[in-house]
Amino acid sequence: MSKKDCKLILALDLPDADSAFAMLGRLKGNLSWVKIGLQMYVKYGADFVRKVADMGFKIFLDLKLYDIPNTVASAVESLKDLPISMLTVHAGGGSDMMKAAAEAAARTNPNLSILAVTVLTSFDDDSLKATGVALPAAEQVGLLARLAEKSGVGGLVCSPLEVESLRKIISPKMLLVTPGVRPSGSDKNEQKRVMTPASSARAGSDFIVVGRPILRAEDPSIAALSINSELKSALEE
Ligand code: C5P
Repeated sequence: MSKKDCKLILALDLPDADSAFAMLGRLKGNLSWVKIGLQMYVKYGADFVRKVADMGFKIFLDLKLYDIPNTVASAVESLKDLPISMLTVHAGGGSDMMKAAAEAAARTNPNLSILAVTVLTSFDDDSLKATGVALPAAEQVGLLARLAEKSGVGGLVCSPLEVESLRKIISPKMLLVTPGVRPSGSDKNEQKRVMTPASSARAGSDFIVVGRPILRAEDPSIAALSINSELKSALEE
């Protein structure tokens, strides 16, 4: 049984800034981490990130960067004044790109962890093959996870169903951040391969990312509170 911590991150996927701030106002006290993705960042930019941080939240900026190493390193440097704690890049961008991102973060923002996304869950073996990747998705995830670790990034974004096998091939120091989590009894939405907060924590996730089960709950703060207590009791068992 894993005894380490597993924290909740809210995926702040809302249509506009007003509804995001209203939601965060309701959740204050029951939530520490917020994931800001492309939808919000493209629309509202750095100021939005600063305002969320000013409310006391830690920020995971999910931009999934993928470009030549120099451009990705420059993008990471451009984020140096932003109060962010995690930032995503695509592991498929290769070792030099991940290394450049990790080095740029270490140089300009030592509190920032670079996380690598392995294979998007929207891919299956066939659609991966159509892009020229002959390995089955599960093997490609393992290959990219090892490459990411060797390249010096701080962790991975992965499905909770991959955590147990990834933990066997990567160091316990690598953070594993898992979306695709659904409290038992809640709507799965279009997520197909899900695990509960408790089983994700027991498998070894360091952070779970949850959006709609909180955002669409009748009382979002009760939903967050109950996920937090599920995580706590799973790790105390
Ligand atoms: O609403 P829900 O809990 O499904 O939100 C999950 C969040 O995690 C969304 O922001 C989604 O884009 C993201 N995500 C995911 N599956 C992945 C990678 C990211 O659901 N494989």
